[in-house]
Amino acid sequence: SPEERARDLLSYMTIEEKIGQMAMVDRGYLKSPHDIAEYGLGAILSGGGSAPRRNTPESWKEMVDGFQREALGTRLGIPILYGIDAVHGHNNVHGAVIFPHNIGLGATGDPELVERIGRAVAEEVVATGIHWTFAPCVTVPQDERWGRTYEGFGEDPELVARLGAALIRGFQGVPAPESLARPDTILATAKHFVADGGTTGGKDRGDARLTEEELRKVHLRPYVEAVKAGVGSVMVSFSSINGVKMHANRDLIQGVLRGELGFDGLIVSDWAAHTELPGSLEEKLATVINAGVDMIMIPDDYRGFVAAVKSLVEEGVVSRKRIDEAVYRILLTKFRLGLFERPIQEDVDFSMVGSEPHRALAREAVRKSVVLLKNDGGVLPLKKEGTRILVLGDKADDLGVQCGGWTITWQGKRGRVTEGTTILEAIRKAVSDPSLVTHVRRASQLAQVKADVIIVVVGETPYAEMYGDRQDLSLTREDAELIIHASQTGLPVVVVLVSGRPRIITDLLDSMDALLAVWLPGTEGDGIADVLFGDYAPTGKLPFVWPRSMEVLPLTIEESGHHPEKALFPYGYGLSY
Ligand code: IFM
Repeated sequence: SPEERARDLLSYMTIEEKIGQMAMVDRGYLKSPHDIAEYGLGAILSGGGSAPRRNTPESWKEMVDGFQREALGTRLGIPILYGIDAVHGHNNVHGAVIFPHNIGLGATGDPELVERIGRAVAEEVVATGIHWTFAPCVTVPQDERWGRTYEGFGEDPELVARLGAALIRGFQGVPAPESLARPDTILATAKHFVADGGTTGGKDRGDARLTEEELRKVHLRPYVEAVKAGVGSVMVSFSSINGVKMHANRDLIQGVLRGELGFDGLIVSDWAAHTELPGSLEEKLATVINAGVDMIMIPDDYRGFVAAVKSLVEEGVVSRKRIDEAVYRILLTKFRLGLFERPIQEDVDFSMVGSEPHRALAREAVRKSVVLLKNDGGVLPLKKEGTRILVLGDKADDLGVQCGGWTITWQGKRGRVTEGTTILEAIRKAVSDPSLVTHVRRASQLAQVKADVIIVVVGETPYAEMYGDRQDLSLTREDAELIIHASQTGLPVVVVLVSGRPRIITDLLDSMDALLAVWLPGTEGDGIADVLFGDYAPTGKLPFVWPRSMEVLPLTIEESGHHPEKALFPYGYGLSY
């Protein structure tokens, strides 16, 4: 069994070999690929998407296989794990299908769909030689000011638990852990343990002030289901609970996750998280390892890592038993994944990356994620024949905006970041005469165009993690002016809001006839056209309460039950045709 094999292999290992396994280094930080063998590294990652210079599936595979060969050349030939943030598709690889970010999947409320997405993403990931994703994020965001709100499925722990487990089943196959040995499955990571979405003011990496009851009812809930679904790894959160850094929280990591929930997979740190703890480098590492973390992502000086941890063992600060336990989990994971039998897969199918069936699946997810918030006078759906459509706003034709953060690069960026269909292109494809669709980027050009309806596309520009923390969630002045000017024409105005969270739009609502929240839909803009033209009658439901103003934040489902006036739209709201 994988368990016996892991125990057996462990018994042959020197202390240096064991400690090396506990290090995970970013590919961009490797001083030389030979360091993998030299320092016996256990894992490599492409954090935040660090991609090879030529970003094609073939070059990814070549790079990952090259690293793997280095590891296989060591005394014991232990293969490396290679991890990546495939959080909404294989999102670092050019041409891969980018699915809606989790908030959009939350609006679908559809575990069966989410499981199929997990399958598709796994197929794209394995085609590049990678077998580990740092997803799903099973956070339960409680404050939309947080820059990672869109990485959560929603603010209801039950919804997150259901969809998180579905994505895990999709990535890993069933029944896990046995299914992990299949060549078309990847290891999933539930993150960030725990209460990353509960910090005061929605501050990224902040402190969550919580009672034991809130912690369990809200934030721990998805982990219970993730463990039941057989999730193979868990990533610890940068944040703190009641002043205690999670990476130092032995009670929750060892006591609750390992002990109470019975998690038997791999516990991994977040990016150099030990450096945020007090003490010398050795003391920081000791705290994290003793808290129950098995693998350190980014030991800042990986060449000094083995010596540093070895000295802790020699001084008795970290026990040999704890090292053995950590390395056993790492080896067990590698045996479960079938890496010893198949460290390098010869017959991968590169055409899986960005395949038509996966695009069709993403389009289905997009149309099911759209939430119709307003539709006065039945302005939607639009007729495909004979309607003169004015599309307003540069975000209508911006793939990068649609995809958001974690797309090709960590922070994402504007413009044609990869292959796909923008909202404007999708509208042109959908109508019978594309010459009736005019795109105008700025409100000042409005008067020159004759139209029957205006579709205004507004929203957020890409961001990730703390760079997305905001104290003001109003629309930008430019976006607000587009809506106001459109409404001054007297034509019906349909607003398409692209965003990773509810934005404050209360004062603008009267200037809109229809409003669609499309979240961060990804590369398949066609899904939005499906809704605009009635090929699909909207079914999406709000996975967050929509706040009326900044002053009411944080606004939970419970609070909005007591004070309905604080919400512009309640949790679960969504119209149809
Ligand atoms: O997986 C991520 C995590 O969500 C944030 N810090 C870096 C990790 C690896 O890129």
